[in-house]
Amino acid sequence: MRHDHLITSKQLSRANIETILDYAAELDADPSAVSDRHAGTVLGLLFFEPSTRTKMSFETAMKRLGGDVVDMGSVESSSVTKGETLADTVRVIEGYADALVLRHPKQGSATMASEFVDVPLVNAGDGAGHHPTQTMLDLYTIRENAGLDDLTIGIMGDLKYGRTVHSLAYALTNFDTRQHFISPESLQLPREVVYDLHQQQDGTGIREHESLEDVLPSLDVLYVTRIQRERFPDENEYQKVAGEYQIDAATLEAASDDLTVMHPLPRVDEIAPEIDETDHAAYFEQAHNGVPVRMALLDLLLSDDGDAGLTGGDGDE
Ligand code: NCD
Repeated sequence: MRHDHLITSKQLSRANIETILDYAAELDADPSAVSDRHAGTVLGLLFFEPSTRTKMSFETAMKRLGGDVVDMGSVESSSVTKGETLADTVRVIEGYADALVLRHPKQGSATMASEFVDVPLVNAGDGAGHHPTQTMLDLYTIRENAGLDDLTIGIMGDLKYGRTVHSLAYALTNFDTRQHFISPESLQLPREVVYDLHQQQDGTGIREHESLEDVLPSLDVLYVTRIQRERFPDENEYQKVAGEYQIDAATLEAASDDLTVMHPLPRVDEIAPEIDETDHAAYFEQAHNGVPVRMALLDLLLSDDGDAGLTGGDGDE
């Protein structure tokens, strides 16, 4: 197995993160510097779940590096409907592509798939598991707006099923951050994640709350998430929490003027549109940052020396 699959943010050390973010900033300033770097390189896109931003920004990133993409297309139009296994699908597509990007509804699927391929495989979301490239663009956005050290962040909404939350929370333990997790009791972080975070950050930086009110004034960043309706085993359980934890201009009256509001998007009704035009809103900028960050990552993963050094932690071994 190669050492440059990117499966979870647990793989990312502080040094890895800083390398990627610094390089993304360089590319953001001058994307034309690398416009031919990966001419002839093909990235394989395997999305077994809907995606707009992640898929299109990977595609844009690969093309801006001079390469191209092949796309499995929708599950309905692929051989998956004939009963092909994920292991067979990735083994076939690795023959067409120099790297693979996989999104799949099953947690653990990216780890499993990576065991069948020799080209780098990037996890673009495995069920309620991880979404490490979203984390990289989240960290980039946080660094630009608030800085990554001495940071107080509130992460709110569906902390149970939200893979962007799991990946971000682990990555932030590399920095001097206080993380406040705000959710209804039924959507709290999985206990094993809380356990891990306490191990990694000596416990002092992690707090859980049911209400935003108490912590809002202290926050530098508020990271809002969508309730992951598609992951609820029972629609009635979703209905019980749907519509909770929404923010609007009145909510933010209690916040610092410098508060940065983020969201991985898509939003449903968690952030009122009236916030979009305020200085708090960073979620569209956050989505745009997906391109330079994924360009930096792809360039590192595809560079000739092969090992992008992304295995500092315990992620994919
Ligand atoms: C997120 C995802 O797919 O996990 N979207 C994204 O990649 N920006 C968040 C979500 O679907 O709520």
